Amino acid sequence: VVASFQPKLLKSKRLLLTAGPTFEPIDPVRGITNLSSGKMGYAIARAAREAGAEVTLISGPTALAAPYGVRRINVQTAQQMHDMVMSQLVGIPASEQNARNGATVFVAVAAVADWRVVNASAQKLKKNADGSAPTLVFEQNPDILAAVAALPKPPYCVGFAAESEQLLRYGEAKRIKKNVPLLVGNIGHDTFGKDDNQLVLFDANGHTSLPRAGKQQLARQLIAEIAHRLD
Ligand code: CTP
Ligand code: CA
Repeated sequence: VVASFQPKLLKSKRLLLTAGPTFEPIDPVRGITNLSSGKMGYAIARAAREAGAEVTLISGPTALAAPYGVRRINVQTAQQMHDMVMSQLVGIPASEQNARNGATVFVAVAAVADWRVVNASAQKLKKNADGSAPTLVFEQNPDILAAVAALPKPPYCVGFAAESEQLLRYGEAKRIKKNVPLLVGNIGHDTFGKDDNQLVLFDANGHTSLPRAGKQQLARQLIAEIAHRLD
C-alpha cells in the first residue's frame, strides 16, 4: 500500500505516543525491563504520519528505526518518559500550543515498568563471597497515561492493555480506571515481538474487535478509529 493513497484523516493534528519498554537500572550494567519490541507503537506512529499528523514518538530502548517523518525522543526509565511526555504537553510555549495542550491525541503504547529500584547502585554490584544475593527495594513509577488524562485540558487519550486472561472484563475496567475515552486491548504472550496482533477496542459504547492482521494494517485501522472519534 502506498502511503500517499491513504486519506489524510489526521491532517493538522498533533499526535504524541509512547512506545517500547522502559529500563530501570539496578547498577551501571544491570536493570529490569518489560517485554516489548516497540513494533506496535512504531507502526501506529508511522500510520499517524501517513494520515497527515505531526508525530512525536517518545521511545524506550528498542532495536527499531524511527519511521520516516516521525520525531523520536529516546528515553530509558519510566520517570524520564513521564517527564518528557509532560514537557511535550505542558512545557511548550503558548504560541505553539493549541486548545488541547500541544497535542490532539496521546497514545500510550509503551510497556512501562511499574516499579523502579530505589537502592540502585552507582557502581557495579559484586557477588558476595558468602553467596548471598543483594536485596532490591522497589517503588512505584508514575502512571504516565493517568497523569495525562488528569490534565486540565487533556488530549484525546488512548491506552493499551496487554492482558493474559479475561480481556473483555479487564479491558473495560482498565479504561474506566485510567479515565480514558479509548482503550486498546490485546491478549498478551503470543503478540510480543510478532508482526501480527489482534485488538479489541473499548470505549463508552462497549467494545469492538479488529481481527488478527499485520501490525501495520492494524495500526492504520486504529488511526482511522481514532480519527472518527475526534470528530
Ligand atoms: N501506563 C503508563 N504508565 C505506567 C503504567 C502504564 O502510561 N506507569 C500505560 C501503558 O502505556 C498502557 C496503559 O497504561 O497504555 C495500561 O498499562 P498496564 O500496564 O496494562 O496498566 P497498569 O495500570 O500498569 O495495570 P497492571 O497492574 O495491570 O500492570
Ligand atoms: Ca503495568
